[in-house]
Amino acid sequence: MTTHSSTLLEQLKAKFDKMGQDLDTHLEGLLHSKPITYWDYIKTDALLNLQEQRTVHKDEMVFIMYHQINELLFKMILWEIEQIADKKSLDSKFFSERLFRISRYFDMLSSSFSIMGDGMELEQYLQFRHTLTPASGFQSAQYRMIEFASTELINLIDARFRNEIDRNTPFEHAFEHLYWQAAGKDHKTGEKSALLSLFEKKYKSQFIEFMKKYNDLNIWTLYKSLPEDTRNNKELLNAMRHYDHTVNIRWVMAHYHAAGKYLVSSTGQVEEATGGSDWRKYMHPKYQRRIFFPDLWSEQELKEWGITNLASYAKLE
Ligand code: HEM
Repeated sequence: MTTHSSTLLEQLKAKFDKMGQDLDTHLEGLLHSKPITYWDYIKTDALLNLQEQRTVHKDEMVFIMYHQINELLFKMILWEIEQIADKKSLDSKFFSERLFRISRYFDMLSSSFSIMGDGMELEQYLQFRHTLTPASGFQSAQYRMIEFASTELINLIDARFRNEIDRNTPFEHAFEHLYWQAAGKDHKTGEKSALLSLFEKKYKSQFIEFMKKYNDLNIWTLYKSLPEDTRNNKELLNAMRHYDHTVNIRWVMAHYHAAGKYLVSSTGQVEEATGGSDWRKYMHPKYQRRIFFPDLWSEQELKEWGITNLASYAKLE
């Protein structure tokens, strides 16, 4: 036995003693354990059995699987955001490295959106979409959690109500005025559509808890709490701006164009979305103006948000 093996055995003994466990029993267990395989570790059987079509149209599979890929990437993004939130002493290196990981995932989501736009036959989509009503990607809980964890609530409040809401507003009240309520609420009667009420029934209490947790731990608040020289670090600033731009303009525009391909006919007739929103107005960043880090943009950049693709959006020199 090498000295390294003896050291390892001593370390293992110390570990199991601490847990009140017998090292020899665990070593015996190792003698009989099965070798690990790729399929057990990655859980390929479970993963590849999650795709169930509701229709006979082959392209519905593209639609289902691409949404599942999105949800996996959303999970990877939330994983990184959580690491930023949990980090004890946050420095610009750790912060920007994690932000660039997140941005790479969102870059991937934005550039791959053509899988939706170009990757399905229009006729098939127009038929299988009827079996989805009233469901919509709008009901992706992880997408909403990414928003709550990225910025302060005020930046997610519908612009029409921002003057009435501040940090002392109860979370329940703020929730009712989030920008996305507009997609599912009749503003004259206040009545909620099935899209919205089903979504809230499933996730509202979880969202309120999550909003509370990230009230002081969201990316924007954490960034603002850093010392001035760290905040002005070019690398970190670029990472912050890149993230905001990728999520709130690039991805949103890719999504909007895909919706346009399927929901606007060659004669210009606009179809109703499965979720039932006034989607052309609701989804466009020039109307929605969702901006995670508003102070990091110049007046000009804010003025042209979602209208012109300014070169400065890409990188500060
Ligand atoms: C052909 C593909 C797609 C079309 C036509 C489409 C269409 C739409 C429409 C019209 C809305 C507005 C709400 C409604 O009334 O339904 C919406 C919202 C949404 N969709 Fe999609 N979508 C597509 C693919 C995707 C994919 C792949 C995802 C990824 C998970 C996604 C995520 C979302 C999200 C998060 C919202 C809410 C956005 C917001 O509140 O600003 N969509 N979609």
